[in-house]
Amino acid sequence: MKLPPSCRLLLLPLAAALALLALHSQRPPPAPGGTTAAAPAPTPRPGNATAPPRHPLQPPYPYPYRFLLNHPDKCRERAPFLVLLVVTSPADLAARDAVRRTWGNESAVPGLSVLRLFLLGRHPVFHAELRPVLREEDELHGDLLQQDFLDTYNNLTLKTLMGLEWVSRFCPNATYVMKADHDVFLNLEFLARLLRPPRTDFATGYVYRGTGPLRNRAYKWFVPREVYPNDTYPPYCGGPGYVLSGDLALRVFGAAQTLPLINMEDAFVGICLHALGVAVTDPPPGAFSMYRLGYDKCRFSRLAMVHHYGPQDLLQVWPHFRDAPVECR
Ligand SMILES: *[C@@H]1O[C@H](CO)[C@@H](O)[C@H](O)[C@H]1NC(C)=O
Ligand SMILES: *[C@@H]1O[C@H](CO)[C@@H](O)[C@H](O)[C@H]1NC(C)=O
Ligand SMILES: *[C@@H]1O[C@H](CO)[C@@H](O)[C@H](O)[C@H]1NC(C)=O
Ligand SMILES: *[C@@H]1O[C@H](CO)[C@@H](O)[C@H](O)[C@H]1NC(C)=O
Ligand SMILES: *[C@@H]1O[C@H](CO)[C@@H](O)[C@H](O)[C@H]1NC(C)=O
Repeated sequence: MKLPPSCRLLLLPLAAALALLALHSQRPPPAPGGTTAAAPAPTPRPGNATAPPRHPLQPPYPYPYRFLLNHPDKCRERAPFLVLLVVTSPADLAARDAVRRTWGNESAVPGLSVLRLFLLGRHPVFHAELRPVLREEDELHGDLLQQDFLDTYNNLTLKTLMGLEWVSRFCPNATYVMKADHDVFLNLEFLARLLRPPRTDFATGYVYRGTGPLRNRAYKWFVPREVYPNDTYPPYCGGPGYVLSGDLALRVFGAAQTLPLINMEDAFVGICLHALGVAVTDPPPGAFSMYRLGYDKCRFSRLAMVHHYGPQDLLQVWPHFRDAPVECR
């Protein structure tokens, strides 16, 4: 195709934009070192030439990831009843906004001391572009925690550990810590009733027992033998939402420094609990729903968590859940 020079000049930026878009939709994201947005490639564990090399799906750890956004003083001189660690990716502004305006509102339940933080890594492609945006969002809300690891599905364990690191270093007196995904509905009033009186060495959520790693690499949840050799996981609480007592959150973080990480964050927390000799506690039946339930105020008043409520769903049901004068038997 022959084009006049002026026309070709116009096409250049378009081609660049398309290339960026293609990169963006590519999975897995580009390897570190390849682009300006890539994170520094962590060096392997010190010292042992005979140790097997790290599998690419095994998150590099321990590694001194740096906080790019942090709030070391947020918990000073207070001991929140519940620290909410909410997993979002950097570009998920709408999800964070919906969570802040619904169940993540720290003052939504009178008398319940809640501290909310969002967990983020660095965007694999648009890190530089998102930096000022995230900084502004954080100045407004003061609730973003970000470390300099790549924000990818197989690095989710690093997000959870960033949250537990923050609690260990900056909020060790929290009574409970909850890790939640952004696409859940949470009823903190019900949850708080389950958690009182405060307990130690306590972990709860939807408990998986006797499940094992998926060995087919076609799955999003693929865990290779090199990363986790056993055929079953110890009992663990499903990732969308689980609770650890504050003391246990600190101990899980400690255990994670010594155990090989796996790319399934929820199963990994189960592995830490197993190493610590702590059993998970089953909640009342139905309190944590791993599948979506149709909204009904009475039904939702008697549970702690429902998975698969996106930002639109949350904003839609919340006013009714909070205000509707419904009599439930
Ligand atoms: C290196 O690892 C191997 C196998 O895990 C172990 O037998 C050996 O003692 C280790 N060597 C050092 C120097 O840590
Ligand atoms: C949080 O809840 C309080 C008390 O109900 C309310 O006044 C406030 O507007 C809410 N904040 C947001 C961001 O929705
Ligand atoms: C996880 O993050 C580290 C540090 O940024 C990076 O080197 C690694 O490639 C990431 N792993 C995956 C599977 O994305
Ligand atoms: C935690 O509580 C203990 C005992 O109440 C207190 O001495 C300590 O200063 C608290 N630590 C933080 C970081 O708030
Ligand atoms: C893995 O299997 C070994 C051998 O059966 C067992 O000793 C170990 O506790 C298991 N690890 C986990 C995390 O379940």
